[in-house]
Amino acid sequence: MSEIELNEVSHEFSTPDGPFPVLDNISLKVPEGAFTSVVGPSGCGKSTLTRLISGLIKPTKGSIKLGGTEIVGPKPTVGMAFQNPVMLEWRSVVKNITLPLEIVAPKMPAKEKEDRARELLKLVSLEGYEENRPSELSGGMKQRVSLCRSLVHRPEVLILDEPFGALDAFTREELWQIMHSLRAEEKITCLLITHDLRESVFLSDEVIVLSDRPARSQYRINVDLGPERSLDDLYTPKTTELLAVLRHQIEVAQGRK
Ligand SMILES: Nc1ncnc2c1ncn2[C@@H]1O[C@H](COP(=O)(O)OP(=O)(O)OP(=O)(O)O)[C@@H](O)[C@H]1O
Ligand SMILES: [Mg+2]
Repeated sequence: MSEIELNEVSHEFSTPDGPFPVLDNISLKVPEGAFTSVVGPSGCGKSTLTRLISGLIKPTKGSIKLGGTEIVGPKPTVGMAFQNPVMLEWRSVVKNITLPLEIVAPKMPAKEKEDRARELLKLVSLEGYEENRPSELSGGMKQRVSLCRSLVHRPEVLILDEPFGALDAFTREELWQIMHSLRAEEKITCLLITHDLRESVFLSDEVIVLSDRPARSQYRINVDLGPERSLDDLYTPKTTELLAVLRHQIEVAQGRK
């Protein structure tokens, strides 16, 4: 496990029309083993933030550290999951999950790789689907396989960019519960980007609201629901109040309030 730390990070893209500022002086810390969600208006720079933390692009200003070490490029200690998982249709579920190990641990014996994949499939309740092809799975099942694949090489940090965004409401709630138990089991530091305020509250220790582009850190709030969480927790007066505060902050970010 390792903490994620952003210190006064700004980012702008160079475009033919000149610099295009996307992130403005963002500082944040996700402590080791903690779960932080980032919400904000569409196009404000959330995916750019994930690309910076995963080392795919470098910030124009400021520094990003994982476990105290500055990021200089993509690292196998970071796992990522996105909205639409890409699977290799000619490979079984297990062999899709072991893919990252083939890159970061090529010498690991095949049986060990597959055992790790099977262990994760059990955690996401997909036992029995090991040898299926991706096309034989539902959207929710594919996303569970994608989560297994992002965790198979035991990354220290998991970056999730709207992984449940394309799923229906019930499947999404099921995945929240799975994600919550995966997080406890795998003891991982997580940063989730989402548009769903209930999702951010259910999963996180802290929620950060970004302003409109160029995104600043506009508001942050701790979620003290404790380690044991159930969907009922989302309907208590305390959580309803928290969600109302977040909704208000989003409206402020959108310039509607
Ligand atoms: N490589 C790039 N070059 C120039 N502009 C870019 C590049 N990548 C992203 N942008 C712009 O930066 C802004 C932020 O994009 P980003 O994908 O980070 O937003 P987002 O908050 O993830 O949006 P959404 O909520 O819709 O997923 C957008 O205006 C986008 O067009
Ligand atoms: Mg995005």
